[in-house]
This record gives sequence, C-alpha cells and structure tokens, in this order.
Amino acid sequence: MKKVYACFCTDVIHEGHLNIIRKAREYGELIAGVLCDSEMIRYNRFPTISVEERIKMFEAVPEVSRVVVQNKIMYDDIIAELNPDYVIHGDNWHNEAMLSIRQNIIEALQRSGGGRLIEIPYTYNERVKKIDERIIEKLSMPEFRRGRLKWLLKTIPIVKVIEVHSGITGLIAEKTVVVHNGGIDQFDAMWISSLCDSTNRGKPDIELVDISSRIRTIDEVMDVTTKPIILDIDTGGITEHFVYHVRTLERMGVSAVIVEDKTGLKKNSLFGNEVVQTQDDVENFCAKIKAGKDAQRTDDFMIIARIESLILDKGMDDALFRAQKYISAGADGIMIHSRKSDPSEVFLFCDTFRKDFPDIPLVAVPTAYSQVTEQELSEHGVNIVIYANQLTRSSFLAMERTAKSILSHNRAKETEPYLLPIKKIISLIDDI
Ligand code: SPV
Ligand code: MG
Repeated sequence: MKKVYACFCTDVIHEGHLNIIRKAREYGELIAGVLCDSEMIRYNRFPTISVEERIKMFEAVPEVSRVVVQNKIMYDDIIAELNPDYVIHGDNWHNEAMLSIRQNIIEALQRSGGGRLIEIPYTYNERVKKIDERIIEKLSMPEFRRGRLKWLLKTIPIVKVIEVHSGITGLIAEKTVVVHNGGIDQFDAMWISSLCDSTNRGKPDIELVDISSRIRTIDEVMDVTTKPIILDIDTGGITEHFVYHVRTLERMGVSAVIVEDKTGLKKNSLFGNEVVQTQDDVENFCAKIKAGKDAQRTDDFMIIARIESLILDKGMDDALFRAQKYISAGADGIMIHSRKSDPSEVFLFCDTFRKDFPDIPLVAVPTAYSQVTEQELSEHGVNIVIYANQLTRSSFLAMERTAKSILSHNRAKETEPYLLPIKKIISLIDDI
C-alpha cells in the first residue's frame, strides 16, 4: 500500500480536516503529523490543547493508521524520515509563509525519491469560520492569555516581545510573519512600554500617564490580539497602590508586570545620570515585590523586578546583590537594564546571575546595544528579549517625513511611494 502523509496544525478536527483525511486515505495508508508546540507558535498561533491531546485526537480518527509529531514547520526532516509516496495538503497557500511551505514540500519530496504533493480544495464555509473564531476568542480570554507567558518560557529558548501602544500596533505584533532561516517566525508577546504609551500621547515618560490611561491602552490592544502582554508598570507607585494594580491587571489577563526599583519622580532610564533619578532602597523595594506577590490570586501572573543599578552607575555588585534580594522577596524574574552601547555589562550580569539562579527568567531590553542578536542573548541566559520602542520610533520618522513632504511640495503626490495604498487602508482591518 502507498504511504500518505498529512500534517495538521490544529486544535480541533472540523469538516475541512475530515475532507482532507478522507481524500488522503484514498491514496493509501495515512500517517497524520501533529505539529509540535514550539513550531505551532512560530507558524500559526498558540495551541489551546497540549500536543499529547492533539496526538490522541488524530489517533481516534479511523482513517489514520498512525500519528507522528512533526518538529519543524518545514518538511525536510519528516519527509526524509517517512519517505511518503504522497504528501496531502489543503490548497490554502494564501500568503508568503504558506507558499514557502509548499515549495519546501515539493523540493523535499524530490530529494527523497519522487513522492508527490496532492493539493485538496480547502473547505472554508461559515461553520469552519465559526470554529476558527471560537479558538481566537478563547485565546484572547484573560484566563487563557494570562498563563501563556509562563508556558512560553517553558517551551521556547527565547521569548521575543515587541512594543505595542494601540490596536493597530497590536495587530502588527499579532500578525507579522516572516519567512527566514529555513523557517517561519513571528513575535511571541507584546510589551506595553511607559515610554511609548506616553510618547504616543505627546507626554513625557514620568508616570504622568496614569494607570487608568494605561489600562485603556491595554484594553485596546487586547480587543484585537491574542498574544500575552507584559506591562511596563514603571515604579508601580506606592506599595499600597501597587497591590491594587496587580489585582486589576491580573484579572484583565496581563501576564506580567515589570516594576523598576526607582522612587520619587521617575525619569526614563536611557537618560541615565543626565537627570536626577533615585533608586529605591532594597528593603522598601523587596516589601513592594512581596506585597504584590501576596496580592495576586493566580499562579499565572508574574512580577518581574527591574534593576536600575547599571543605568545609575551603581556597579555590577549592587545589581547582583539586588537581584538576589528581589528573588528572595518573591520576584518571578529579573530585568537587567543597561544604557551602554555594547552588551558586555549585560552579559557579565547574566553569566554571574545564572551561576546562582539557573531557572529564574532573565529579561533584556537591547535598545542602546541593538547590535546584539537573540542568539547571543540566549547564550548568556536571557529568556525574554524586549524590543521596547522600535515601532514608535519608526512610525514617528515616517509621519514626520510625510508631513515635511506635503509642506515642501504644497501637495501630497510626492508622499505616495511611502504610503499604504488607499485600497489597502480601507480594508486593512480585515486584511492585515
Ligand atoms: C520603556 O519602554 O518604557 C522602558 C524601557 O521602560 S526604557 O525606555 O529603555 O527605559
Ligand atoms: Mg518605561
């Protein structure tokens, strides 16, 4: 009997999948692939059930003779291993990522001995659409969204986080996918930055934008996304207020807050000592962390302590001492910030910290040292990388160039090459 392979990247088997399964079975013995969790996230969206449950789901289908786990979105390894006569796939090759998978299947089959790709018309009717919408709805619900940062930390080597401050930037974080390095990539989570949330309101980053306004931003982002959210909560305010914020944010479905060890009038860290900034004393800040941890109600929510010792030239020993104290107080992770243009002090901190704390999540924000790669950070033990302001900075430049062009030419024509086509903007929300 001929060997047929079809990989599924789904949490439910709907009539479209059953159609593919039945057609596939007509070609021979069907081996069903289940895409592993880490590749599900990179390629598509978060799974809502475990890989073990997905395996069981396909094992229960009578047409399936056995189930295997596909560990890479690209088919090279699985095709080399199984050597199928046919690979079956829906014909829903509707974007660059899907087309690159199609090409990869064809090439891998040629290399393995001439199997064929069979493309089956994809079923996309109202019922299938409803099922899809239900899954997205579930992913966006607070109780599902909140715990997913911890889940990511267990599942992938480095969590990639991008700054968002509105519905539209949320959509960019949610939907931007690239094909590169023989795979498919996208962001894992979103950072709601105090700097960008303030800047986008034309306000300075001094905790002037109050918590209610920050919550409004979170709500707008949550309305149109499913990925986990990390909030930059600045100093968190006084401890008596911080505990209330923790409860509110946790209930909303925020996954983590990063609270910085400064006190008084907070200024942006990248000013360093050019402005007056005061670091909190260790006992006070530990008490704030402990109060926050005591206030939260679920195990999902994380309070990450941000250390400003390197920013304020207090030295490496102070940073490491504080890290150890903050963890004893209950912090779920440490963010080490630096304004140096090379990453060596961050690396030194991480290497030393990791010797004593092999499992505590470490966060880095490579704004000043943007040449660093995710791989280098990961090799030094960083688990979360936050691209904290790039969307805001790039949009400002684009808007300013357009404004200047219109003023300089007394018309808008010269701006056209830099603009999203008008057809695209009116259908952007469905399209993006
Ligand atoms: C932010 O994005 O608001 C941050 C990071 O806190 S930084 O601006 O580098 O201080
Ligand atoms: Mg900030």
